[in-house]
Parts: sequence; structure tokens; C-alpha cells
Amino acid sequence: MARGNPVQNPIDVLLKEHEIIMERVADLRRAVRDLKIRGDDVVDEALPALRSVGEMMATTLLLHARKEDEALFPALEAVFGTEMGPTAVMRQEHRAIHAQADLFRKTIRELHEVEHPAIVQQGAELRDLAARGGGAVHLEEAGSEIIRLLDSHFGKEEMVLFPMARNLLQPEALRQVMERMEEIEAEARR
Ligand SMILES: [Fe+2]
Ligand SMILES: [Fe+2]
Repeated sequence: MARGNPVQNPIDVLLKEHEIIMERVADLRRAVRDLKIRGDDVVDEALPALRSVGEMMATTLLLHARKEDEALFPALEAVFGTEMGPTAVMRQEHRAIHAQADLFRKTIRELHEVEHPAIVQQGAELRDLAARGGGAVHLEEAGSEIIRLLDSHFGKEEMVLFPMARNLLQPEALRQVMERMEEIEAEARR
């Protein structure tokens, strides 16, 4: 525990990563808009942005999702698995807490088991299409789907999951999540 440097809060780090990823997605939004308005004429212009976002999804975004899947989610699930709150908490409150916990568990499962794999798959599709220089309509559809998916996914994490993590995880748990995230980062750089 005794360390020289103040330990970073993992939620702050994940939020910062969202910001960095969304800056890159802004290029995709522009490319998709151009494709929608000007069609096949702008495919050549749009391709570099589409390729680079496809690449980002296979690297930066994938690493980010791994940190959530392998560091943050297990820590939250560990909290839900334990008895929550002091025994003095009224029955009514317990029920409310358990209902909330069920909802959160469902949200985590959805983010982890459904949305992360969907994002990975859409990224692969975009890379494939961009490599083949597919037509404007297909590129625009694939790009739009990714934007829709990421907006909704990041929204859920930022509105539900991250605030919940800030509330529920004790300093020691947060420290462990941060440590695991750093290990994942180091593994990826090897
Ligand atoms: Fe995520
Ligand atoms: Fe995320």
C-alpha cells in the first residue's frame, strides 16, 4: 500500500481512454457523413479514416475493453457476490439494493458478453470492407453501425457502470483494478 506516487483512479483512466477513442471516432463520423452525402465519389477520400478507425478498434479499443473485462468487471462482480451493507440496514433498503445489484449484474453481462464481442466483430468487418475498398453504401452502413454501437456502449458505461464503480469499490479494490490494468497494458506492449 505504501507507495511514493499517488495511485491513479482506474475509472479516471478508463474515462480518459474513452475520450481518446472518441476523438478518433470523430474522423469516422466525418467520413460517414461525407459518404452519405456524396456517395462513391468520396470513397477514396474516406478510406484512410475508415482504415485507421478499423485499426484503432483492433488495438487501442480492444485493449481498453480487456481492461474492463479482466480488471473492472470482476472487481464489481466480487462486490455483488458479497453480503452488501451492514445488517442494521432495513429490509426495505436491502430489497432495493438487491434489485439494483440485479440490474447492475445484467448491465455488466450485457457490456461484457454481448457488446464487447459485437464491437470487435464490427471493427473486423470495417477493416475488411476498407481493405476491399467496398462501395459507399456498405462503408457508410458499417461505419454508422460502429458509431451507434460505441455511442450507446460508452454512454452506458459512463452513466451506469463507472459511477457504480466509484460508489462501490473500496480504495483497496480500486488499487487492485489499477494494478491489473497496468499489467494488461504491459502485456500488450511486450
Ligand atoms: Fe466497454
Ligand atoms: Fe469503456
